[in-house]
Parts: sequence; C-alpha cells; structure tokens
Amino acid sequence: MSYTAEEIQALDEQFNGKEPADIIAEALERFDNIAISFSGAEDVVLIDIAAKTGKPFKVFTLDTGRLHPETYRFIEKVREHYNINIEVAFPESEAVSQLVNEKGMFSFYQDDHKECCAIRKVGPLRKKLSTLSAWITGQRKDQSPGTRVSIPSVQIDGAFSTDTNQLIKFNPLAEWSSAEVWNYIRANNVPYNELHEKGFTSIGCEPCTKAVLPNQHEREGRWWWEEATAKECGLHATNIEK
Ligand code: ADX
Ligand code: SF4
Repeated sequence: MSYTAEEIQALDEQFNGKEPADIIAEALERFDNIAISFSGAEDVVLIDIAAKTGKPFKVFTLDTGRLHPETYRFIEKVREHYNINIEVAFPESEAVSQLVNEKGMFSFYQDDHKECCAIRKVGPLRKKLSTLSAWITGQRKDQSPGTRVSIPSVQIDGAFSTDTNQLIKFNPLAEWSSAEVWNYIRANNVPYNELHEKGFTSIGCEPCTKAVLPNQHEREGRWWWEEATAKECGLHATNIEK
C-alpha cells in the first residue's frame, strides 16, 4: 500500500509531543518490511527502544570500508548485546577499486566527499532501501543547524522512493537533543561506541571524522575541511534539496 502526502503529514502531526518509543512502536506496527539504519554511533538508542517494544525489527549498517576499528567492535557488541542480526551492506567492489586506482585513498580531501560517499554509502543504501517499504533513522534536528532543523518525525522519502516502491522514512529522534539521547543511554545502560570517550560526538568514516573540542558543534568534526552547509553525504539527500 502507499500513503498520500496528506496521510503522512497527518501521521507526523499525530507524533507531535510523542516520545521516540511511541513513534518506533507505531512504525513497527504499520510496516513489516521496515529496518533501522544503524551508523554505529549514538543511534544505538533506536535499537534499544525497538528491542523494548517486543516487536520484531530489522537492522542494517553500511560498511564503507573506512570505519574506525572502534566502530566495527561496537557493531559486534550491539549484535551480541541485543542478540540481533545486523545486516552489513558493502559498496560495489568495482566502483571502489576504480575510484581508488584513479584517485588514491584520500581523494575526498581534494575533490570533496561526494564522489566517495556516493560509491561507499549512497549506492549501497539505495540498493538496500529498494528492498524495504520503510526505514528508521537516528537523524535529529539539533545535529545540524544548517541542514536538519526541519526534519519531521515521519516523511515520504523523496530521495529514495521510486515509481514502483514508495519508501517511508521515520526519524523518531528528530525532536530529541543530544543531551536527551545521552540521558537515555546512561539511564538504560545502553552500550556505546568507545570513540565517544575520546572526544567524538558525531561518528562517521575514520578519515572524515575527528574529535571536537568542548563547545564545538558535534558536526564540526565531520568533513571539517568543507562548508558547514554541505555536511550531508547523500544518505539524507532530502535535507539539502529543500
Ligand atoms: S551522515 O549522513 O552524516 O553520515 P549521520 O552520521 O548524521 O549521517 O547519521 C544520521 C543517521 O543516518 C543515523 O542515525 C543512521 O540512521 C543513518 N546512517 C548514517 N551512517 C550510517 C551507516 N554507516 N550505516 C547505516 N546508517 C547510517
Ligand atoms: Fe568516503 Fe569519507 Fe564519505 Fe566515508 S565519509 S564514504 S571515507 S568521503
């Protein structure tokens, strides 16, 4: 079945003032073919909340080949802790080898990150999303004043829906602040990526993420050599199309 824009807007309004747990429960109730997109960072709270609903849920992660060792260890820890399968999606090896053989291992520092992200993240994501009816992300408004202030709790995914497959995107943490996420992690003894103890607030690929200083915004450590308004990698292309 597919939803009209009005129906999704009404659902988003219904989520006003609701907790992430209510949104996740409703998402899992409405869609069987839905999965949590887990980056290996503080979006682990999505998994903790989903596990507590008692409903079945799926999780996938995009292994770009360039994640920190800490993140690989954390993904395994989460798999064991919740006794869940985490499907790992990989980039096309031909495309990666062509990029690296033509431009080297760090072309993103010269060319900007879009080409590498397109191959290592967006391609595999598109392939995965073509098999789903809905996905759940850990995006929050407070992550980026430049690109994420208007994300709704639920939306029709304008970037990854196709003529034959409408895709609904849930952002249950949209209204939560970083502090609320971390209060949840501490209060519920949720496992977390050890990079968070080393000054990393936002975590992406190793060459494109660095620790931030006190009072720096969390995404200042992501693609730090680029303009703040461009700090999206294409996973959430709807944020920059507007
Ligand atoms: S990014 O676009 O800048 O890389 P960010 O790190 O803020 O994204 O994460 C926002 C949400 O995007 C995560 O909570 C997760 O749902 C999804 N996401 C980001 N990176 C990945 C990844 N490697 N694998 C799966 N999902 C991811
Ligand atoms: Fe490539 Fe960096 Fe994008 Fe990772 S974040 S896919 S290493 S450009």
